Amino acid sequence: MAVVVSIDAGTTGVRSFALNEKGEQLAISYREFTQQYPHPGWVEHDPNEIWNSVQFTLSELNNTIEEPIAAIGITNQRETAVAWSRISGEPLCNAIVWQDLRTSARCEQLLELGYLDQVRRTTGLLVNPYFTATKIEWLLDNKVVEKNSDLAFGTIDSWLLWKLTDGSTHATDVTNASRTLLYDIRENRWSSELCELFGVPESSLPEVLPSSGRFGSTADTSAIGAGIPISGIAGDQQSALFGQACLEPGMTKNTYGTGSFVLMNAGTHCPEPAEGLVTTVAWDLGDGPTYALEGSVFVTGAAIQWLRDGLGIISHASEIGDLALSVPDNGGVFFVPAFAGLGSPWWDPRARGTIIGLTGGTGRGHLARAVIEAIAFQTRDVVEAMSQAAGTPIKEMRVDGGASVMDLLLQIQADQLGVRVARPVVTETTAQGAAMLAGLAEGFWSQTEEIKSAWRLEKAFDPQDDRSAWDEQHLNWLRAVQRSKKWVD
Ligand SMILES: Nc1ncnc2c1ncn2[C@@H]1O[C@H](COP(=O)(O)OP(=O)(O)OP(=O)(O)O)[C@@H](O)[C@H]1O
Ligand SMILES: [Mg+2]
Repeated sequence: MAVVVSIDAGTTGVRSFALNEKGEQLAISYREFTQQYPHPGWVEHDPNEIWNSVQFTLSELNNTIEEPIAAIGITNQRETAVAWSRISGEPLCNAIVWQDLRTSARCEQLLELGYLDQVRRTTGLLVNPYFTATKIEWLLDNKVVEKNSDLAFGTIDSWLLWKLTDGSTHATDVTNASRTLLYDIRENRWSSELCELFGVPESSLPEVLPSSGRFGSTADTSAIGAGIPISGIAGDQQSALFGQACLEPGMTKNTYGTGSFVLMNAGTHCPEPAEGLVTTVAWDLGDGPTYALEGSVFVTGAAIQWLRDGLGIISHASEIGDLALSVPDNGGVFFVPAFAGLGSPWWDPRARGTIIGLTGGTGRGHLARAVIEAIAFQTRDVVEAMSQAAGTPIKEMRVDGGASVMDLLLQIQADQLGVRVARPVVTETTAQGAAMLAGLAEGFWSQTEEIKSAWRLEKAFDPQDDRSAWDEQHLNWLRAVQRSKKWVD
């Protein structure tokens, strides 16, 4: 009996899994890596530390499983820019992480110059420092890297593929390409116009392949051994949409991780740009793209970590639920966790975090409650934009990610949305999706029907009948959001 290995290279750590043919997880290994904040608003990762974390988890898996490995799938934090040398195979600098805001001023300049329409029409995205292109442009303009034939750019998936194949493959998948601001999602190719705008030589970019299909095979330098096919790649949020079996148009998921990302399957025709949202490629199984509408909320679970690491009012993320339940309500406190600016639907890189409504009676419980509510409020803002764009309200939201274990959060979420929130048995859907993309390519699974039947409900949260008090709270939240906007120059 063989297994499929899935590498989930997230923003704060790497998780690798081995799955059997029923989609069950037989083994898991996790390794956290360092977040670097060299200046306010800057966020960097060491690409070698990420690669070493992958190697560590693969070698742990190798020690636990005896079954042969049929295929490897990779899923990853998206938009993060990596630059390396083709000759030495070494990184040329730290990776600039998706949350990094150093290119805010450049994005404002591009907006003033009127580039929004072209960028939206071509890439489905917006002009915002979140996406990859201005990060690459920054590395070139600041002479951190030099334009020459040695230079290779990529997102984290490309970097790991390069290392796993020991430099024989420089490729990415279409979902990752669709986050760079350099990819034409209608024509399915790098946009030469946008490469020119950002000064990126196309020769430095990876080849773009479908999400399911053979990318390459592991080299003997990989901790998992030589000759294993790498056959599935997708950005973490698209991978979670696939792992949640949202295979029909209109089906929607939200992942509560570092940030929260709501994606709705939009079918095989590229939808028109939607207010407050981005359009992205959901996957390509080899027969052309399926698209998704996405609302990207940058900071949700990370605000829980901030209560733990920044304020020290909890010592584990898992304590937040009980702490929030120690008070009857938020005591009038609203917390806008705009640590990395605001994403959907506001798109304001100059916003910063705000806590408002404090009184002498405010305690830790109220802050915990305000953080949980902020996660639900931000998701509501995105889902409302999505319902508007789709022309019909969503029917159900499937959820996953680290904070989705919290029943209190999911009940508040259902009450905020007026929609059923459904948590599956397997909440590691990010890893599940990449494993399925790889397994489908290698005939380990034969059809997507098997993915649908593998999805099982663990618990559903239904909205209460009278939601008027929640609507009032949401209006107060929107007032708090206004105060956090455009805070820094
Ligand atoms: N028991 C828990 N209760 C509430 N929140 C939790 C719990 N465990 C984890 N979290 C929150 O979940 C988040 C991590 O979720 P997850 O592991 O899905 O994140 P991720 O985004 O996949 O990580 P990465 O950013 O590395 O990809 C953390 O920010 C943490 O605050
Ligand atoms: Mg993740």
